[in-house]
Amino acid sequence: MADALFSVDGQIALVSGGSRGIGRELARGFAQRGAKVIITGRDEATLERTAEEISESDNAVLPMACDVAVIDDVEKLVAKVIDAFGRIDTLLNVAGVNKRQRVEEFTVEEYDFILDINLKGAFWMAREVGRRMIERRSGTQIHIDSLNTSAPLKGVLPYAMSKAGLGMMTRGMASEWGEFGVRVNALAPGFILTDMTQKLWSESKMQAWAKVNTPLGRLGEVDDLVGTALFLASPASAFMTGQVVYVDGGITAGTAWPIDL
Ligand code: NAI
Repeated sequence: MADALFSVDGQIALVSGGSRGIGRELARGFAQRGAKVIITGRDEATLERTAEEISESDNAVLPMACDVAVIDDVEKLVAKVIDAFGRIDTLLNVAGVNKRQRVEEFTVEEYDFILDINLKGAFWMAREVGRRMIERRSGTQIHIDSLNTSAPLKGVLPYAMSKAGLGMMTRGMASEWGEFGVRVNALAPGFILTDMTQKLWSESKMQAWAKVNTPLGRLGEVDDLVGTALFLASPASAFMTGQVVYVDGGITAGTAWPIDL
Protein backbone atom coordinates (compact mmCIF):
# COMPACT_ATOMS: atom_id res chain seq x y z
CA MET A 1 0.00 0.00 0.00
CA ALA A 2 1.32 3.46 -0.90
CA ASP A 3 2.08 5.61 2.14
CA ALA A 4 0.37 9.04 1.87
CA LEU A 5 3.04 10.50 4.17
CA PHE A 6 5.65 10.19 1.41
CA SER A 7 3.29 10.66 -1.55
CA VAL A 8 3.52 13.16 -4.41
CA ASP A 9 0.57 11.57 -6.20
CA GLY A 10 -1.57 14.22 -7.92
CA GLN A 11 0.97 17.00 -7.45
CA ILE A 12 1.83 19.45 -10.23
CA ALA A 13 5.65 19.44 -10.36
CA LEU A 14 7.76 21.80 -12.47
CA VAL A 15 11.35 20.70 -13.18
CA SER A 16 13.81 23.24 -14.58
CA GLY A 17 16.71 21.58 -16.41
CA GLY A 18 14.65 18.44 -16.92
CA SER A 19 16.03 17.42 -20.31
CA ARG A 20 18.87 15.24 -19.01
CA GLY A 21 20.94 14.18 -16.01
CA ILE A 22 19.64 14.85 -12.52
CA GLY A 23 16.57 16.84 -13.63
CA ARG A 24 15.49 14.10 -16.02
CA GLU A 25 15.72 11.41 -13.33
CA LEU A 26 13.87 13.52 -10.73
CA ALA A 27 11.14 14.22 -13.30
CA ARG A 28 10.87 10.51 -14.01
CA GLY A 29 10.75 9.63 -10.31
CA PHE A 30 7.90 12.07 -9.69
CA ALA A 31 5.94 10.96 -12.81
CA GLN A 32 6.29 7.30 -11.79
CA ARG A 33 4.63 8.20 -8.49
CA GLY A 34 1.62 9.96 -9.97
CA ALA A 35 2.74 13.61 -10.17
CA LYS A 36 1.91 15.60 -13.29
CA VAL A 37 5.39 16.73 -14.35
CA ILE A 38 6.39 19.60 -16.62
CA ILE A 39 10.03 19.61 -17.73
CA THR A 40 11.82 22.68 -19.05
CA GLY A 41 15.10 23.31 -20.85
CA ARG A 42 16.40 25.39 -23.72
CA ASP A 43 16.10 23.00 -26.63
CA GLU A 44 12.58 22.05 -27.67
CA ALA A 45 13.50 18.91 -29.64
CA THR A 46 15.62 17.46 -26.80
CA LEU A 47 12.90 18.23 -24.29
CA GLU A 48 10.25 16.53 -26.39
CA ARG A 49 12.40 13.43 -26.77
CA THR A 50 13.08 13.27 -23.03
CA ALA A 51 9.41 13.81 -22.18
CA GLU A 52 8.46 10.91 -24.42
CA GLU A 53 11.13 8.66 -22.90
CA ILE A 54 10.20 9.29 -19.27
CA SER A 55 6.41 9.48 -19.61
CA GLU A 56 4.38 6.81 -17.89
CA SER A 57 1.74 5.11 -20.05
CA ASP A 58 -1.08 6.75 -18.06
CA ASN A 59 0.79 9.93 -17.10
CA ALA A 60 2.49 11.98 -19.82
CA VAL A 61 5.36 14.29 -18.91
CA LEU A 62 4.93 17.67 -20.60
CA PRO A 63 7.83 19.53 -22.26
CA MET A 64 7.84 23.35 -22.20
CA ALA A 65 10.92 25.18 -23.51
CA CYS A 66 12.42 27.91 -21.32
CA ASP A 67 15.88 29.43 -20.95
CA VAL A 68 16.10 30.23 -17.24
CA ALA A 69 18.65 32.96 -17.95
CA VAL A 70 15.97 34.90 -19.84
CA ILE A 71 13.59 36.47 -17.32
CA ASP A 72 10.84 36.91 -19.90
CA ASP A 73 11.00 33.17 -20.71
CA VAL A 74 10.67 32.29 -17.02
CA GLU A 75 7.68 34.58 -16.49
CA LYS A 76 5.94 33.20 -19.59
CA LEU A 77 6.66 29.61 -18.61
CA VAL A 78 5.22 29.96 -15.11
CA ALA A 79 2.14 31.78 -16.44
CA LYS A 80 1.65 28.97 -19.00
CA VAL A 81 1.86 26.24 -16.35
CA ILE A 82 -0.58 28.11 -14.11
CA ASP A 83 -2.97 28.60 -17.05
CA ALA A 84 -2.83 24.88 -17.85
CA PHE A 85 -2.95 23.42 -14.32
CA GLY A 86 -4.03 26.22 -11.97
CA ARG A 87 -1.14 25.65 -9.56
CA ILE A 88 2.39 24.39 -9.00
CA ASP A 89 2.80 22.19 -5.92
CA THR A 90 6.52 21.50 -6.24
CA LEU A 91 9.32 23.32 -8.02
CA LEU A 92 12.49 21.34 -8.68
CA ASN A 93 15.00 24.05 -9.56
CA VAL A 94 17.69 21.96 -11.27
CA ALA A 95 19.02 23.87 -14.33
CA GLY A 96 22.72 24.55 -13.97
CA VAL A 97 26.03 24.80 -15.83
CA ASN A 98 29.69 24.64 -14.86
CA LYS A 99 33.10 25.40 -16.32
CA ARG A 100 36.38 24.21 -14.84
CA GLN A 101 39.37 26.51 -15.09
CA ARG A 102 41.59 28.73 -12.95
CA VAL A 103 40.15 31.95 -11.50
CA GLU A 104 42.48 34.20 -13.50
CA GLU A 105 41.36 32.65 -16.80
CA PHE A 106 37.63 33.37 -16.54
CA THR A 107 36.20 35.93 -18.98
CA VAL A 108 33.26 38.21 -18.23
CA GLU A 109 31.15 36.19 -20.69
CA GLU A 110 31.94 32.89 -18.95
CA TYR A 111 31.26 34.38 -15.51
CA ASP A 112 27.92 35.86 -16.64
CA PHE A 113 26.91 32.63 -18.38
CA ILE A 114 27.31 30.62 -15.17
CA LEU A 115 25.82 33.16 -12.75
CA ASP A 116 22.92 34.05 -15.07
CA ILE A 117 21.76 30.43 -15.22
CA ASN A 118 22.74 29.05 -11.80
CA LEU A 119 21.84 32.02 -9.61
CA LYS A 120 19.82 34.72 -11.38
CA GLY A 121 17.79 32.14 -13.33
CA ALA A 122 17.21 30.02 -10.24
CA PHE A 123 16.18 33.08 -8.23
CA TRP A 124 13.72 34.25 -10.86
CA MET A 125 12.21 30.82 -11.33
CA ALA A 126 11.80 30.46 -7.55
CA ARG A 127 10.39 33.98 -7.26
CA GLU A 128 7.84 33.57 -10.05
CA VAL A 129 6.66 30.19 -8.77
CA GLY A 130 6.85 31.44 -5.17
CA ARG A 131 4.43 34.29 -5.89
CA ARG A 132 1.83 31.75 -7.04
CA MET A 133 2.52 29.47 -4.06
CA ILE A 134 2.08 32.41 -1.66
CA GLU A 135 -1.33 33.18 -3.21
CA ARG A 136 -2.39 29.56 -2.59
CA ARG A 137 -0.71 29.40 0.83
CA SER A 138 0.92 26.15 -0.20
CA GLY A 139 3.90 24.72 -2.08
CA THR A 140 7.39 23.30 -1.80
CA GLN A 141 10.56 24.27 -3.59
CA ILE A 142 13.69 22.17 -3.93
CA HIS A 143 16.82 23.86 -5.22
CA ILE A 144 19.69 21.71 -6.44
CA ASP A 145 22.76 22.84 -4.60
CA SER A 146 26.23 21.26 -4.46
CA LEU A 147 29.20 20.35 -2.30
CA ASN A 148 30.38 23.84 -3.29
CA THR A 149 27.58 25.33 -1.20
CA SER A 150 29.69 25.06 1.93
CA ALA A 151 33.27 25.12 0.57
CA PRO A 152 34.66 25.62 -2.93
CA LEU A 153 36.30 22.85 -4.92
CA LYS A 154 39.33 24.19 -6.77
CA GLY A 155 38.86 25.34 -10.36
CA VAL A 156 35.13 26.13 -10.39
CA LEU A 157 34.88 29.38 -8.47
CA PRO A 158 32.00 31.15 -10.32
CA TYR A 159 30.03 27.89 -10.06
CA ALA A 160 30.88 27.59 -6.36
CA MET A 161 29.81 31.19 -5.80
CA SER A 162 26.51 30.52 -7.55
CA LYS A 163 25.86 27.44 -5.42
CA ALA A 164 26.79 29.25 -2.19
CA GLY A 165 24.31 31.95 -3.24
CA LEU A 166 21.69 29.29 -3.83
CA GLY A 167 22.15 28.09 -0.25
CA MET A 168 21.57 31.63 0.99
CA MET A 169 18.60 31.99 -1.33
CA THR A 170 17.09 28.79 0.08
CA ARG A 171 17.37 30.02 3.67
CA GLY A 172 16.17 33.54 2.78
CA MET A 173 13.09 32.36 0.87
CA ALA A 174 12.31 29.83 3.61
CA SER A 175 12.46 32.65 6.19
CA GLU A 176 10.18 34.96 4.21
CA TRP A 177 7.69 32.41 2.92
CA GLY A 178 7.19 30.12 5.92
CA GLU A 179 4.30 32.26 7.15
CA PHE A 180 2.52 31.54 3.84
CA GLY A 181 2.90 27.78 4.09
CA VAL A 182 5.59 27.65 1.41
CA ARG A 183 8.57 25.41 2.21
CA VAL A 184 11.97 25.89 0.57
CA ASN A 185 14.83 23.40 0.90
CA ALA A 186 17.92 22.48 -1.07
CA LEU A 187 19.25 19.09 -2.08
CA ALA A 188 23.03 19.09 -2.41
CA PRO A 189 24.29 16.10 -4.41
CA GLY A 190 27.81 14.80 -4.01
CA PHE A 191 29.67 13.53 -7.08
CA ILE A 192 27.05 12.22 -9.50
CA LEU A 193 27.80 10.68 -12.89
CA THR A 194 26.09 12.80 -15.57
CA ASP A 195 26.92 14.44 -18.91
CA MET A 196 28.14 17.44 -16.92
CA THR A 197 30.71 15.40 -14.99
CA GLN A 198 31.56 12.37 -17.14
CA LYS A 199 34.82 13.83 -18.52
CA LEU A 200 36.14 14.46 -15.02
CA TRP A 201 35.20 11.02 -13.73
CA SER A 202 36.60 9.22 -16.76
CA GLU A 203 40.07 9.72 -15.23
CA SER A 204 41.02 6.72 -13.12
CA LYS A 205 42.88 8.77 -10.49
CA MET A 206 39.73 10.84 -9.98
CA GLN A 207 37.69 7.66 -9.50
CA ALA A 208 40.23 6.39 -6.97
CA TRP A 209 40.23 9.71 -5.09
CA ALA A 210 36.42 9.79 -4.91
CA LYS A 211 36.31 6.21 -3.66
CA VAL A 212 38.76 6.91 -0.84
CA ASN A 213 36.99 10.11 0.20
CA THR A 214 33.43 8.82 0.05
CA PRO A 215 32.45 6.66 3.04
CA LEU A 216 29.96 4.74 0.87
CA GLY A 217 32.82 4.02 -1.53
CA ARG A 218 31.40 4.99 -4.92
CA LEU A 219 30.25 7.84 -7.13
CA GLY A 220 26.56 8.69 -7.05
CA GLU A 221 24.00 7.83 -9.73
CA VAL A 222 21.14 10.13 -10.66
CA ASP A 223 18.58 7.81 -9.07
CA ASP A 224 20.35 8.14 -5.71
CA LEU A 225 18.72 11.58 -5.44
CA VAL A 226 15.09 10.67 -6.13
CA GLY A 227 14.15 9.48 -2.63
CA THR A 228 15.33 12.66 -0.92
CA ALA A 229 13.53 14.87 -3.47
CA LEU A 230 10.30 12.91 -2.94
CA PHE A 231 10.71 13.28 0.81
CA LEU A 232 11.27 17.06 0.54
CA ALA A 233 8.17 17.42 -1.69
CA SER A 234 5.90 15.24 0.44
CA PRO A 235 4.02 15.69 3.72
CA ALA A 236 6.78 13.66 5.41
CA SER A 237 8.91 16.84 5.53
CA ALA A 238 6.03 19.16 6.54
CA PHE A 239 8.02 20.76 9.40
CA MET A 240 11.22 21.18 7.42
CA THR A 241 12.26 24.35 5.61
CA GLY A 242 15.45 26.34 4.93
CA GLN A 243 17.67 23.25 5.00
CA VAL A 244 20.42 22.06 2.69
CA VAL A 245 20.32 18.25 2.62
CA TYR A 246 23.54 16.61 1.42
CA VAL A 247 23.10 13.40 -0.56
CA ASP A 248 26.77 12.68 -1.10
CA GLY A 249 27.64 9.17 0.07
CA GLY A 250 29.04 10.78 3.23
CA ILE A 251 31.78 12.83 1.57
CA THR A 252 31.07 15.85 3.79
CA ALA A 253 31.20 13.70 6.94
CA GLY A 254 34.98 13.84 7.33
CA THR A 255 38.39 13.77 5.72
CA ALA A 256 40.17 10.58 4.63
CA TRP A 257 43.83 9.79 5.43
CA PRO A 258 46.12 9.20 2.43
CA ILE A 259 47.47 6.04 4.20
CA ASP A 260 45.88 2.78 5.34
CA LEU A 261 44.85 2.70 9.00
P1 NAI B 1 23.55 18.23 -16.94
O1 NAI B 1 24.47 19.13 -17.70
O2 NAI B 1 23.44 16.82 -17.34
O3 NAI B 1 22.07 18.86 -16.93
C1 NAI B 1 21.86 20.24 -16.78
C2 NAI B 1 20.44 20.57 -17.15
O4 NAI B 1 20.25 21.99 -17.04
C3 NAI B 1 20.12 20.18 -18.60
O5 NAI B 1 18.82 19.67 -18.65
C4 NAI B 1 20.22 21.51 -19.33
O6 NAI B 1 19.42 21.56 -20.48
C5 NAI B 1 19.68 22.46 -18.25
N1 NAI B 1 20.07 23.84 -18.51
C6 NAI B 1 21.32 24.36 -18.62
N2 NAI B 1 21.24 25.67 -18.89
C7 NAI B 1 19.92 25.99 -18.94
C8 NAI B 1 19.20 27.18 -19.18
N3 NAI B 1 19.82 28.33 -19.46
N4 NAI B 1 17.85 27.14 -19.15
C9 NAI B 1 17.21 25.98 -18.91
N5 NAI B 1 17.84 24.82 -18.66
C10 NAI B 1 19.18 24.84 -18.69
O7 NAI B 1 24.00 18.40 -15.43
P2 NAI B 1 23.61 17.61 -14.11
O8 NAI B 1 24.84 16.95 -13.63
O9 NAI B 1 22.39 16.81 -14.29
O10 NAI B 1 23.32 18.83 -13.13
C11 NAI B 1 22.02 19.26 -12.79
C12 NAI B 1 22.11 20.20 -11.60
O11 NAI B 1 22.71 19.49 -10.51
C13 NAI B 1 22.97 21.43 -11.84
O12 NAI B 1 22.40 22.53 -11.18
C14 NAI B 1 24.30 21.06 -11.19
O13 NAI B 1 24.98 22.19 -10.76
C15 NAI B 1 23.80 20.23 -10.02
N6 NAI B 1 24.81 19.33 -9.46
C16 NAI B 1 25.35 18.32 -10.20
C17 NAI B 1 26.30 17.47 -9.63
C18 NAI B 1 26.92 16.34 -10.37
O14 NAI B 1 27.85 15.72 -9.82
N7 NAI B 1 26.46 16.00 -11.56
C19 NAI B 1 26.73 17.67 -8.24
C20 NAI B 1 26.09 18.75 -7.56
C21 NAI B 1 25.17 19.55 -8.16
